[in-house]
Amino acid sequence: MRMESASAENRCKSGVEKMKKIMILGASMSQVPLIRAAREEGLYTIVASTPGDWPGFAQGDESSFTDISDPEAVLREARRHEIQGIVTCCMDAGVPALGYVCEQMGLCGPGMNAARTARNKFLMKEAFRKNGVSCAEHRKVTTEEELEEAIKRFGFPVAVKAVDQMGSRGIYRCDTYEEAGNCFRSIMESSKEGYCLVEEFIEGTLFNGEAMLRNGQFVFCMTDNTEAYAAAVPTPVGHSFPFEKEKELGEMARREMQKAVQAVGYDNSAVDFDLLYRDGKVYVVEINGRAGATCLPELVSMTYQVDYYKALVKLAMGEPVAEMFRKPSANFACLSHILSSDKEGRLLSVVNWNDESDPDIVEISVDVKPGDLVRKYTNGRDRLGQVILKGKSLRGVKEKLEEVRRNLVFHVEG
Ligand SMILES: Nc1ncnc2c1ncn2[C@@H]1O[C@H](COP(=O)(O)OP(=O)(O)O)[C@@H](O)[C@H]1O
Ligand SMILES: [Mg+2]
Repeated sequence: MRMESASAENRCKSGVEKMKKIMILGASMSQVPLIRAAREEGLYTIVASTPGDWPGFAQGDESSFTDISDPEAVLREARRHEIQGIVTCCMDAGVPALGYVCEQMGLCGPGMNAARTARNKFLMKEAFRKNGVSCAEHRKVTTEEELEEAIKRFGFPVAVKAVDQMGSRGIYRCDTYEEAGNCFRSIMESSKEGYCLVEEFIEGTLFNGEAMLRNGQFVFCMTDNTEAYAAAVPTPVGHSFPFEKEKELGEMARREMQKAVQAVGYDNSAVDFDLLYRDGKVYVVEINGRAGATCLPELVSMTYQVDYYKALVKLAMGEPVAEMFRKPSANFACLSHILSSDKEGRLLSVVNWNDESDPDIVEISVDVKPGDLVRKYTNGRDRLGQVILKGKSLRGVKEKLEEVRRNLVFHVEG
């Protein structure tokens, strides 16, 4: 069934032309719950993405084959459809266009400043430093001489970053001059900006901040633990709540998150933060103007007992959202984990002995089937599926994850 009956009735009664229209940027699996939530809210949904076999297209009322990383193209489509709201979640590709369209059409969402910094990590870092946000020191680097100067200042290791890429592409940790030089040259070849960003590398523990802003105020702001896959730079493969350093670092993290949103100029938006802590101090790595990936909307939904996807839709339509969020549930813990393979090969079988009637197992989903080629995990595109758990304590959900993983076996050839 494609339509919820309530919204189907709504469509017949009032006629499609009278329905409010929302554009959803992206049509991948991660946008599907957002598209569904928009339909359940009685909105006419236009799903925008480059053409492809994306599951989101079948979920929306209409498809718009548009490159969502191209703000002008998205604006043209948004105007043509006369939309009243625009939204995305869990991925960065559409964020600059989202900010641009909101600004140009006067819609509720991240403004132009925020959109500009979302397109450029150097501008974001400049805004952070100017506003006293605790973050790694940085330099704009255009030549090999400037690279050497930056390294002399920070010492190894350094982070060498493309300013205009996302999803851990073009982000390197470098421990030698040779590595740094190679990364710098490879970024300079592919980056459109003509410079790269070099930062002191904070050898700390990665964690996450998740929040929503309405008229510049947090309607909620939470921190959670990040499970990081140890690649060249750590990549998140899971999150869990509550934050285990809440007592020591919770307040400090919220203060820095507040400064960071002000620095960048977010006022009506979901925001997601990459944070690090080291020696009792919190560092903001970056802020993203959209809900986080790796099941963060599901964790927010469970923690605050709301449908977070509906909150994202309501916010995009300029509706009040603050009353949806009260205190996070007490004595509650939850966790998400991306399933992955540690080797490449043909998938022979998947065996799942887990008891899925267990109320603490919220979801175990597998995206691959026997015969598929699976890759050794390097980023989110190599995922095999996901697990979402809830329970009374962080320790409990972590133990449950171990049990779930023992009872779920991917047989990979070779
Ligand atoms: N200065 C730094 N020190 C330590 N780790 C960093 C630093 N900058 C980035 N990282 C690590 O690299 C990851 C990706 O960098 P980020 O700037 O968030 O780019 P992306 O847009 O690809 O997520 C971060 O989540 C963090 O783990
Ligand atoms: Mg990041």
